[in-house]
Amino acid sequence: MARNSLKRYLPTNLLGRTVLILLFPIVLMEIVIGIAFIQRHFEQVTDQMSEGIALEIIYMKTELENEIARGSKPQELKKMIHELGNQFGYTAKYDHKSEITIIDDVSFFDLSGKTFIKNLNEKLSSASAYDLTNPRIVNIQTLVSSGRLDLMISRKRISASNPHQLLVLMIVVTLLLVFLSVIVLKNQIRPIGKLAKAAEAFGKGQFVNFKPGGSDEVRRAGVAFLAMRARIERQIKQRTQMLSGVSHDLRTPLTRLKLALTLQKENQEVHDMLEDVNSMEAMLDEFLEFSKVSKKEATKQIIMVDFLARLVEKNKKHFDNISLKINDHLDHSHTMEIRENALSRGLQNVIDNAMTFGSKVEVIAIRDSIDTIINIEDNGPGIKEENYELAFRPFSRLDESRNQNNHSGVGLGLSISTDIVKNHGGKISLSRSEKLGGLRVSIRIPI
Ligand SMILES: Nc1ncnc2c1ncn2[C@@H]1O[C@H](COP(=O)(O)OP(=O)(O)OP(=O)(O)O)[C@@H](O)[C@H]1O
Ligand SMILES: [Mg+2]
Repeated sequence: MARNSLKRYLPTNLLGRTVLILLFPIVLMEIVIGIAFIQRHFEQVTDQMSEGIALEIIYMKTELENEIARGSKPQELKKMIHELGNQFGYTAKYDHKSEITIIDDVSFFDLSGKTFIKNLNEKLSSASAYDLTNPRIVNIQTLVSSGRLDLMISRKRISASNPHQLLVLMIVVTLLLVFLSVIVLKNQIRPIGKLAKAAEAFGKGQFVNFKPGGSDEVRRAGVAFLAMRARIERQIKQRTQMLSGVSHDLRTPLTRLKLALTLQKENQEVHDMLEDVNSMEAMLDEFLEFSKVSKKEATKQIIMVDFLARLVEKNKKHFDNISLKINDHLDHSHTMEIRENALSRGLQNVIDNAMTFGSKVEVIAIRDSIDTIINIEDNGPGIKEENYELAFRPFSRLDESRNQNNHSGVGLGLSISTDIVKNHGGKISLSRSEKLGGLRVSIRIPI
């Protein structure tokens, strides 16, 4: 759970992650070094400063004790201490009462103040108290053999001022480093992004110009991608060329056969043979038509809503009961990069089936964050779930529909549609139409 919630806040792209990997140790190191250095710096400097002050106070106390031993009057002692204090830059007072009127007082966060009190207590032998609550003046009271010495010292003299220049320098240098590395990294990552885009487009059947670049590894991946793309394209082309060649060449002997059969005396056998030859001819025609469409049509930007409207309108001319429903998420601003003729044929095959098997057809277009979804539903008999896979196979006609409306397809429609949809990087699936009760063919095409 904790890991997952942390993941949500971490960057997902390569640049963000690399900057984080780079920045995290640097910042951590700076914090550690900063704290360790500042702590040592403060302690040492404060130690030295408090030692100096302790010596000055001890000197003043010795002078005072000597005067007391000589029997000087309090008035004289006061004057002498005042003058002595002035020499050191203190405000110094002598009080003949031997009692301490302040208590040790220092704020919790005043580390150097605490060090100061500790050091002075070690060095001054007599009872003393320190008030460090005032940020500018430190008040010290220390007892002598008869009376008390009061000192006011500027705070600056007991602890070093903040070494904030160092911190500022550290932050500025870090920011500069991060800025420079982001620029360098961006250049390194750009070729990876380009490769990803080209691969993504190829998956959708689009062609994007791509030139390998960047570091060795990325360049190698790019070259490998280009080789793979060329090989796959060559294979597809060869396959279609070969099949259309075969189909084309088969038509001549088939026509000859047909001609020969029509010249025969009419009987049942000849009739059946003619029917077979006719259906073979239909298969070849269908296939040739398909290979014509799939012949490397260039992709182009189309407005999906208009494309579907044109398709449905065309079918309405000979089939009244077909309608188009467009979901709110899809409007004229949504364009897609597709092979218009191919996709139109892919959808037409499915619509043809729906119009053959049903008397009411609905085309429903929806859009989610990744796909445009086109559902084609009808009110026909549908397909049993266990036969879904079979329906996609080339030349497969399902038993249930053999005699339906004298349907005389060759069984290539759905497999051709699948091919076209897959070439657009999409998916095609079958299910039962909840609304119309027949078949629902769902076609998803990535945006
Ligand atoms: N809407 C549908 N309702 C019921 N069955 C269907 C539907 N669509 C397809 N089928 C079944 O799936 C089989 C395969 O469909 P496909 O479109 O591939 O071939 P076809 O329609 O028989 O021939 P072709 O489309 O090549 O003329 C069909 O023969 C039919 O049995
Ligand atoms: Mg069909």
